[in-house]
Amino acid sequence: MKRLDLILSLLTPGCRIADIGCDHAYVPISAVSSGVASFAYASDVREGPLSRARENVGKAGLSDKIVLALADGLDGADKYGTDTVIIAGMGGELTAEIIDRAPFVKDQKIKLILQPMTAQDKLRRYLLGSGFEIMSEHISKEGARVYQMIVCKYTNKPQSYTDAELIVGKNHVEKELVSSLYKKYITKYEKIVKGKAASDKDISFDEKILCELKEKYGNVNAL
Ligand SMILES: C[S@@+](CC[C@H](N)C(=O)[O-])C[C@H]1O[C@@H](n2cnc3c(N)ncnc32)[C@H](O)[C@@H]1O
Repeated sequence: MKRLDLILSLLTPGCRIADIGCDHAYVPISAVSSGVASFAYASDVREGPLSRARENVGKAGLSDKIVLALADGLDGADKYGTDTVIIAGMGGELTAEIIDRAPFVKDQKIKLILQPMTAQDKLRRYLLGSGFEIMSEHISKEGARVYQMIVCKYTNKPQSYTDAELIVGKNHVEKELVSSLYKKYITKYEKIVKGKAASDKDISFDEKILCELKEKYGNVNAL
């Protein structure tokens, strides 16, 4: 499934979404116009993307159901009965920072749909260390691009992930795409190990990750 379609498929009917870093606002527009979301708050920290969003929301005739805001992270998103937070297309560290600055999302009733572009391990480490439970892990593939998506909520239940699982996730719903995800990270870690070895740097941690990725890839049908 395409990345934005996958986000939409993870919404609960009747939800009230907050799409942070909405850019073009395609997600809130599709979610509200299809009827799956009853309301959307969509924000961006930059005026350029927000004016694109404003134009698209206006063209779709949804200005009464989508509130747009120029805001940093989740600032102000708590005012609208938000039960679903979407943060897609940003780095994993920024995604974690945004969540960490918004205590209102530490609530069992709020679902977070996260699609980090980078540093997925840092985001998972943050989530697991801060009381968020990863409810499901997803993969989207568009051409050669493979995206990871995490659905979580605050439950304060402990969960354990290995170092390689922090990078690629585990128990993915889209089983047929797991091998593509592993191939991507095996290639990445082979390059890291080679580069570090060539400059005499310590490769022990990266080699351990690579070894676990390869082992899991070898058993991909059992994942
Ligand atoms: C690559 S776009 C992703 C757009 C859309 N969410 C998607 O997945 O297609 C990232 C957007 O996040 C916005 N952004 C970056 N930092 C932000 C922050 N701290 N708060 C809100 N928006 C932010 C950027 O201005 C940009 O429009």
